[in-house]
Amino acid sequence: MRNPSRRSLLVGTACTAITGAIAPHWPARAQTVYVRQSIAEFSKDPAKVDAYRAGVRRMKSRDVDDPTSWAYQANIHGVPSGTTLKPEWRTCDHGTWYFFPWHRMYIYWFERILRRASGDPTFALPYWDYSDPDQRLLPRIFREPANSSNPLYEPNRRSSFNAGTAGLDSEDVDHSAAFRQTVFASTSFPYGFGGYPRSHSHTADTFGELEWSPHNLVHGAIGGLMGNVPLAARDPIFWVHHANIDRLWNRWLALGGGRANPTNASWRGQSFTFFNQRGLAVTETVQQFLNRHTDEYRYDTEPAPAAFAVAGRSEATEAAAVTAATILARRDQPVELGARPVSVQLAPTASLGEPPTPPRRLFVGLSKIRSKAPPGSNFDVYLNLPSGTPPDPDNSLYFVGRLSFFGRSEQEHGRAHHDDESPSVRAF
Ligand code: C2O
Repeated sequence: MRNPSRRSLLVGTACTAITGAIAPHWPARAQTVYVRQSIAEFSKDPAKVDAYRAGVRRMKSRDVDDPTSWAYQANIHGVPSGTTLKPEWRTCDHGTWYFFPWHRMYIYWFERILRRASGDPTFALPYWDYSDPDQRLLPRIFREPANSSNPLYEPNRRSSFNAGTAGLDSEDVDHSAAFRQTVFASTSFPYGFGGYPRSHSHTADTFGELEWSPHNLVHGAIGGLMGNVPLAARDPIFWVHHANIDRLWNRWLALGGGRANPTNASWRGQSFTFFNQRGLAVTETVQQFLNRHTDEYRYDTEPAPAAFAVAGRSEATEAAAVTAATILARRDQPVELGARPVSVQLAPTASLGEPPTPPRRLFVGLSKIRSKAPPGSNFDVYLNLPSGTPPDPDNSLYFVGRLSFFGRSEQEHGRAHHDDESPSVRAF
């Protein structure tokens, strides 16, 4: 494991990565597909909501040993420490370039199980479109009625979210940094759109930009089960959050400008195992999965079956696209976070000099971030906040970013645990 005593705060400059690759164009195929709707749209149809609830209820009633049960499916993502593992339990992938394909395959097979359990042959998983400012409250069908008659309700969430009196804010749902990335994977910070190109790992800290925000921040904001990798998939809101993350992957690809999935054989050839609607294990590589299944569904924001085919540039180009930062000030002593605000001094390591023209970006980075247990909430970071100035993430000039601890708990070691020198850096 990483050394918890060496955390540092650094400020540096870096250039934006530019590449000249052209996005491939794939013709749409005419075929019937399941349409994943936004939860706002989906919730307008009581028959759909009823089928959804019936399916979840049915899955929850199944025995934990049944791979099509709610509990077994949730355990594929993670389990509380000390649990005796069954096949494929605790195999989720965080902080690597497999985050996107693993979770895509996971929700795809879950959706097939749920479709069958729901009794609605057209059922498709809705997604939570929190980019829309009108959809920042926890979707109503997940909080009302707030009792066990509603299988989408989960009491172990931030209570104001369940009450509908508070919701996600614009910081939690910001995908702009992720969408600016033009590489899928990178070995240096920021780790591209999709994370560090390393082996399958339950919890690595080298999150890609979208995994960080909005993915991790939304987990932390909802809190409760969702704030904790081993428990997150037990909360029904997990699945609509992940459908949205999956949708944002497509939207990123559609931006073009060289954005593409990795061509690398170790990405395409990585296999994962899930269970189909009959409870039978299915093992496929990422490439096989993308070829075989992704035309079966589309998001309602997409005009036609989207292009998921594997294409892109070489890893060498990806690595070259990221430039190293100059550290202007740092702090090497650990900073302990708790319930009260903490402020720290940074020691300058270089003169700031005159502002460069054209202006470059300044990053504030936090590295080697560790927690003994999930803190149950996110932390906001400010730079040079004058004393007496109220912290205000929406309007403050001094607000730098939000820190989530999702995917960082020490209890979360997976089967492919890695131990290497790369710091867990988060820059804003
Ligand atoms: Cu495997 Cu949202 O997490």
